[in-house]
Amino acid sequence: MSETFQIPLEAAEMYEAAFVPAFFAQWAPTLCAAAGVAAGRRVLDVACGTGIVARTAADQGATVTGVDLNEAMLTVARRARPELDWRLGNAQKLPFADGEFDVVVSQMALMFFPDPAAALAEMARVVVPGGTVAVLVPGALDRQAAFAPFVAMAARHAGSEAVDLLTAYFRAGDLDELAGLLGAAGPNVTEQRRVDGIYRAPSVDAFVTTEVESTPLVERMSAETYQQIREEARTVLAPFTADDGSVAAPFEANLVVAVA
Ligand SMILES: C[S@@+](CC[C@H](N)C(=O)[O-])C[C@H]1O[C@@H](n2cnc3c(N)ncnc32)[C@H](O)[C@@H]1O
Repeated sequence: MSETFQIPLEAAEMYEAAFVPAFFAQWAPTLCAAAGVAAGRRVLDVACGTGIVARTAADQGATVTGVDLNEAMLTVARRARPELDWRLGNAQKLPFADGEFDVVVSQMALMFFPDPAAALAEMARVVVPGGTVAVLVPGALDRQAAFAPFVAMAARHAGSEAVDLLTAYFRAGDLDELAGLLGAAGPNVTEQRRVDGIYRAPSVDAFVTTEVESTPLVERMSAETYQQIREEARTVLAPFTADDGSVAAPFEANLVVAVA
């Protein structure tokens, strides 16, 4: 999901059907509450994906716009809620005038932007003076009770390149750094905290498939190495695996709120 990468429609449909309920939906109420989303407020959801945060804000009576770089994500978002305003656009160059929104939120996306500081400056620009910018991202890898040992194990088998690919998700995970970046973009930081959640997968195999095959790592290692990772994942993830084989991995996110 880099700046220019367009995902196929089937991937966006799968994201909405599988990953929104299993992972992304849980953070939206917390983010909306922290951002002061309320009836009548004009809310922008930056890198909205299939629109879970936008929909949550709309359900609270806000007037909502979602913007994302991927047309396929927006197609799925539009299907679910055609009455909301869905726009194609880059977080680093938002297609909106200064001060168009009362609240700007962004969930689980800032770590993918090549220039997060530019995106935060854009969020600060399009919010009205006195308005709120709130950002939620995955916390640091070394604080993730299940993902940290999983990545360490994968690195033992696949080498340090595996670490780079598997840790991309966590690279904006320093809470103080994120608060510093948002503050440097202009608004005053009013809240910074960690939020506990859960990453659910139907099985250890499904967990491994998602982690490995959503990165180029899968093309860069042998079938044998991949099999070793699959097998050892059963041991590493055992503390988070239920009797029915499903995985519930603790996941820590960082939340920063600022007022313009
Ligand atoms: C993991 S998804 C999160 C989507 C949504 N916020 C959610 O919580 O379900 C990351 C999203 O960021 C979008 N994205 C990545 N880089 C972007 C950019 N530079 N500008 C706008 N959207 C971007 C992707 O297209 C993708 O929809």
